[in-house]
Amino acid sequence: MAAQDVQAGGWSPALILVLVAVLLAGALFGYDQGVISGALSGVQHEFKLSALLVEVVTSWVTLGALAGSLAGGELADRLGRRKALFAAAALFAAGAAVEALAPAVAVLVAGRLLVGFGVGVAAVAAPLYAAELAPAPQRGRFVSAYQLAITIGIFLSYLVDQALTKQGDWRVMLGVSAVPALLLLAAMVPAVESPRWLVRMGRRDEARATIARARPWVDPDVRLASIEASLHDEPPNASWSEVFAPAWRRPLTIGIGLAVFQQITGINAIIYYSDKIFAAAGFSSAAAQTQASTWAIGAVNVVATLIAIAFIDRLGRRPLLLAGLVGMTASLAAVGFAFLSSSKGAGMSSSAGAVTLGALVVFIISFAFSLGPVVWTVINEIFPGRVRGRAVAVATAVNWGSAFLVSEFFLTLVDAIGESATFFLFAFFCVVGGIWIYRRVPETKGRSLEQIETLWRGDTRAPAASLR
Ligand code: BGC
Repeated sequence: MAAQDVQAGGWSPALILVLVAVLLAGALFGYDQGVISGALSGVQHEFKLSALLVEVVTSWVTLGALAGSLAGGELADRLGRRKALFAAAALFAAGAAVEALAPAVAVLVAGRLLVGFGVGVAAVAAPLYAAELAPAPQRGRFVSAYQLAITIGIFLSYLVDQALTKQGDWRVMLGVSAVPALLLLAAMVPAVESPRWLVRMGRRDEARATIARARPWVDPDVRLASIEASLHDEPPNASWSEVFAPAWRRPLTIGIGLAVFQQITGINAIIYYSDKIFAAAGFSSAAAQTQASTWAIGAVNVVATLIAIAFIDRLGRRPLLLAGLVGMTASLAAVGFAFLSSSKGAGMSSSAGAVTLGALVVFIISFAFSLGPVVWTVINEIFPGRVRGRAVAVATAVNWGSAFLVSEFFLTLVDAIGESATFFLFAFFCVVGGIWIYRRVPETKGRSLEQIETLWRGDTRAPAASLR
């Protein structure tokens, strides 16, 4: 039964719609991550913001996302994955409208929080939805499609920023994000619910009908039996204390650890501040900096994520994570050395500038085929069904919290210890992350969610090697 479940792959219109929804949710996330860099100067000009308010307008969206991701687990468990995504899209569209029409900075900040909240809910519900509906052989691909959409969203926001920078039309830049939100709303109307969630809610007939629609090539009763077997004896919703119970400490530590390492190795310092990094690396005009960011960071990120999608279900999670971290360590160290050589003289030489550009491209490629997609994939497949919603929410909230801290303190850190030490620090975190992943993170490739669940049963201190 499990074998049939693991081997059966294919596409149906219902599965394609799941993929579309996941792509739109990712695009919302990404657009929102990238857009503020270009919108900020127009906002600053119109509202005459203090430095503190500039930071608030920039980073409070991450705080909203942190709250949204905690609530997202709750919503995804109570309303279902589909309705949670519907709610996220509605919140996001409303927030984007509030931002675009804001008459005062307080309203703009309220809009940022609302948008962030929607992004947080979607960031939990979308990969969860993808992981629960995708057939096991394609699960990595479904969840990395979410990551691909994030990178496309970032790239699009860089392009929109570039196109509108001259007019300083920040209202349009921010308001444009209502478009994917409305499309997501529309997509969720006919979309199917996750059969696993339906079974947990005792809605067996609907679950059976959904399986028949989403995966017409499998015997729905066999699939239903396999879901039921894994949900056997489980209450519909675990309490918060159960999420933190010793039995699940191992997957929880893995989820949280991956969420933290994804951020403290520097990705968003580079996404948010790439213009500033390129300026420090000798790209003197604003146009040259934006161009470098758009293409060397934005476009490369998209292309490299495509590579991940091709390989994640073939090579497995661990090899991609470890190989990516090697590339990230080397490139961050190269940037560190380039800044080190420049700090001795006046500014960076053109060769050190070229090294920085090349190294950042290598960094983005390495992140995009490893920590970017694989972290979200693993977070969404390691938790047992009854704690999955809340546990994924905890890991996602930790991810946003770490993103908030890194983006908030990157410039302060650069001021305090200099660019080169800051990049060496990120490189050091890559090394620590690599060692930790090597020792602790099991391979989940090709295992059904039910089989992964059995990894955590028995001796909770079993060496990770036995799980590879
Ligand atoms: C991360 C984001 C990051 C993006 C870059 C995602 O996996 O969670 O914080 O901005 O990748 O592509």
